[in-house]
Amino acid sequence: MNHRRIIEGALAAVLLAGGFGRALAAEAEPVGSETCLGCHAERDVKKKLHTKAMSTAKGVPFDKACETCHGPGSLHAAAAGDKSSPGFATIKNPKDQSAAEQSETCLTCHKQKNLTLWGTSSHKQGGLSCAKCHTMHGDQKKNLAKDGVETCLTCHKKQRGELQLASHHPLIEGRMTCAGCHNPHGGVSGNLRGETVEDTCFKCHADKAGPFMHEHPPVVEECTTCHKPHGSANATLLKQGEPMLCLRCHKWPHTESTNNVSAMKTKTFEQRSRCTDCHNQIHGSDRKAGLKD
Ligand code: HEC
Ligand code: HEC
Ligand code: HEC
Ligand code: HEC
Ligand code: HEC
Ligand code: HEC
Ligand code: HEC
Ligand code: HEC
Ligand code: HEC
Ligand code: HEC
Repeated sequence: MNHRRIIEGALAAVLLAGGFGRALAAEAEPVGSETCLGCHAERDVKKKLHTKAMSTAKGVPFDKACETCHGPGSLHAAAAGDKSSPGFATIKNPKDQSAAEQSETCLTCHKQKNLTLWGTSSHKQGGLSCAKCHTMHGDQKKNLAKDGVETCLTCHKKQRGELQLASHHPLIEGRMTCAGCHNPHGGVSGNLRGETVEDTCFKCHADKAGPFMHEHPPVVEECTTCHKPHGSANATLLKQGEPMLCLRCHKWPHTESTNNVSAMKTKTFEQRSRCTDCHNQIHGSDRKAGLKD
């Protein structure tokens, strides 16, 4: 290809992307999904999740489905697959649209509660479109691009590493998803489900919520003072092992209280260094002071 043809080609592309293409697109008419499938048999979304949802919940019949998202396709269809024909590119390809344009199509229908914070979410700010996580042409649950956790781990490498550590929330095991704690469409605090870290944890660990007769102040304050959310090399997702975790705020040995302690338990501490062998109600207790049973 000589230089002249490259320049002409580039010029045509600019014209297409600009006013010329748009003027043509405005003239295009709907042709119906069956026509599309004449050439895009591999896109037969007839039975697939999203098209089905559109027709059952919004009354968008299958024949209108493709063009609801891709725009009217008569000129594209008439181009008969010839990419150099000006009509070809009048079909909307979400991959060529800006993230905001792509999401706009989706948001015309999707106004549910879960999505109300999308506008301020870190994912929107980070330049993501809906289609980074969802695919309209797949069969995954919730139209996700990949299995729930894999969708997220493609970008979040740090979390992938954390989930390999000895103690971790059972995400890779498939017993919960990132969405158990995060709303990927935005949240009040970061991307969390709850208004605070605590609220988020209490959705599944309600037994730690109290109120207790004998509270442990750091627990009331923030679970992440002692725990990591994703994974840790220490047992039970702890930030630090015992007794160092406790010695950040407390002194050892005890003062006068040690005479309440049986010799056997004291010996156990010398071997295991676990304060929680005695203080086993570390999140709060209704029964006795000292966070013990
Ligand atoms: C006459 C055959 C034909 C018909 C009818 C047809 N297409 Fe296409 N379309 C093609 C071909 C060929 C391509 C290029 C495919 C490729 O590069 O893999 C294409 C590409 C596309 C693309 C990607 C465009 C791009 O910029 O790369 C979209 C989106 C698309 N078609 C949607 C539709 C929809 C929606 C309809 C119905 C309104 C439709 N097509 C009807 C042949 C057709
Ligand atoms: C709810 C919106 C929606 C509907 C309905 C829909 N699509 Fe798509 N389509 C998309 C999005 C978004 C993409 C971008 C990638 C993805 O999600 O798979 C896409 C991608 C495509 C592509 C591939 C473009 C490329 O460059 O790879 C083709 C071809 C296509 N759609 C054709 C169709 C046909 C044919 C129908 C009807 C049977 C249809 N689509 C229905 C949203 C939709
Ligand atoms: C960062 C990834 C990501 C992005 C970006 C994203 N989603 Fe989601 N979406 C998810 C996940 C994960 C779920 C499943 C949530 C669950 O299991 O509770 C979901 C669920 C949904 C649902 C199902 C109903 C619900 O609320 O659970 C709808 C509808 C939806 N998303 C629409 C959208 C739209 C529209 C956009 C763009 C404005 C978008 N999503 C952007 C990851 C994403
Ligand atoms: C014409 C209206 C319409 C458009 C446009 C549309 N959707 Fe939907 N979508 C629906 C309906 C209706 C449902 C089923 C009911 C519901 O969950 O709201 C649905 C369901 C979903 C679900 C949930 C599936 C499940 O298993 O719970 C996701 C995710 C989703 N849409 C994402 C998108 C994305 C991303 C786009 C843009 C590429 C989009 N939708 C465009 C109407 C639409
Ligand atoms: C396409 C890449 C991509 C995918 C896929 C993705 N994210 Fe993100 N995520 C980002 C970007 C970019 C940011 C913006 C902040 C940053 O630079 O880390 C972000 C930020 C976040 C934050 C931080 C919020 C804050 O305010 O500090 C959380 C939490 C998060 N993502 C969770 C998820 C979850 C859960 C999923 C899967 C449902 C997911 N992400 C999928 C790219 C992605
Ligand atoms: C058990 C609840 C929980 C689960 C499950 C969870 N997270 Fe988080 N995540 C949190 C908490 C809590 C924070 C920290 C928020 C803070 O300190 O303000 C966080 C922070 C983040 C951040 C931002 C800070 C950072 O470390 O970069 C990203 C990104 C993130 N999570 C991604 C993910 C991904 C991806 C998954 C799924 C593989 C996931 N999370 C699963 C609770 C969870
Ligand atoms: C969506 C539900 C869910 C949420 C929300 C949740 N967890 Fe969990 N958590 C689990 C499950 C499931 C396990 C595994 C329990 C098991 O193996 O029996 C677990 C285990 C734990 C463990 C013990 C880990 C071990 O190795 O023994 C700790 C500590 C923990 N979670 C802390 C938290 C904290 C802190 C939060 C808030 C940031 C939180 N969890 C939010 C479901 C959740
Ligand atoms: C002062 C530090 C500290 C704080 C703050 C803390 N934890 Fe813990 N947590 C621990 C220790 C230590 C263990 C291990 C106890 C053991 O091995 O007997 C533990 C264990 C757990 C476990 C697993 C064992 C069980 O009892 O179910 C869960 C779940 C848990 N914590 C959730 C939470 C939640 C939710 C919060 C916030 C409300 C929180 N923790 C705040 C220190 C703390
Ligand atoms: C972030 C600081 C912090 C950490 C970490 C912490 N604590 Fe505490 N703890 C406190 C505060 C503050 C009190 C309230 C009484 C006080 O001022 O000593 C308290 C009270 C207690 C009490 C009750 C004392 C009484 O008089 O009833 C016990 C027992 C205790 N902590 C044990 C532990 C153990 C065991 C660990 C480690 C698993 C631990 N704490 C980690 C701050 C902390
Ligand atoms: C062998 C059992 C045992 C072990 C191990 C143990 N404690 Fe205690 N601790 C007690 C008893 C008993 C009391 C008196 C509580 C009461 O009044 O009921 C106490 C009291 C406390 C108090 C209240 C103030 C004080 O000094 O009297 C704190 C704080 C405390 N322990 C922290 C810790 C920390 C931190 C560790 C680990 C480094 C630890 N304990 C290990 C049995 C133990």
